[in-house]
Amino acid sequence: MKKYVLPSMLIGSMVVLSACKPVDWAEKKWNATFNEESSEENEKQISNEQTTPKPNDENKNETPDEQPSAESDLPWLEETVTASGDGKAVVQNLDDLLIVANKERNLPGDYEPKDLVTPNVPFPFKEDLPKKKLRKEAALSLEVLFKAAEEDGLELLAQSGYRSYDTQVSIFAFNAEQKGEEVANKTSSRPGQSEHQTGLSMDVTSQEVNFELVEAFGETKEGKWLAENAHKYGFIIRYLKGKEEITGYQYEPWHLRYVGVDHAKKIHEQGITLEEYLQKP
Ligand code: DAL
Ligand code: ZN
Repeated sequence: MKKYVLPSMLIGSMVVLSACKPVDWAEKKWNATFNEESSEENEKQISNEQTTPKPNDENKNETPDEQPSAESDLPWLEETVTASGDGKAVVQNLDDLLIVANKERNLPGDYEPKDLVTPNVPFPFKEDLPKKKLRKEAALSLEVLFKAAEEDGLELLAQSGYRSYDTQVSIFAFNAEQKGEEVANKTSSRPGQSEHQTGLSMDVTSQEVNFELVEAFGETKEGKWLAENAHKYGFIIRYLKGKEEITGYQYEPWHLRYVGVDHAKKIHEQGITLEEYLQKP
């Protein structure tokens, strides 16, 4: 496994945002991209559709096992961004279930998934807001996960899923004003860098923590259940304790990210982040 560090510097003058980053791949990518003219190859969108099986009724507590995909099929981090005119790395595999948005990888401002739906799960609010939504496959899998938790006597609530780029502009600005930009940067994504914009993430909470998104959720029975079981339904805990230097964010026991069952199991078993999983060996 390659090593990661948390740089506080910008990479040359081209990178707009300081960030935590997986150094090896990013530097290679920046060097390759900025020292050469963008080739047509670089501009091409990386093939991006994955076909993760959907949950079915025959095995209602677990989504079915997927055929493990060959390692060579993984959308490697290095190969799924291109540089834009202003020097930002822009994510290309937008509809891929293994898409990675982070402090080094920006989603286009106008990117909105086409298959957003509202999962049939409890929310701690009544309004019909966009943040109830997820991409269809993730929404169906979340329903299965919530049902399994309920059968184990737990009550989860979904707090925040899809967010547009513009919503993230407001959220980050609010957090920066409240906490200062440095603190906000550890807990809140800058616009274009939130995986909530991908429609594959849902923040989950419970009554025991007053439906808040707080670290204490990880110590509740619901939080522990999620950490032990979410992968069976295709979700990972995206921002792990001890991996802050890699993800760039504080531990978030509430933030579920859908990747599909096969990948979620592998990531869970290895105790790694999505960045580590998609780092080309
Ligand atoms: N809290 C996560 C990192 C986000 O804002 O996307
Ligand atoms: Zn979240």
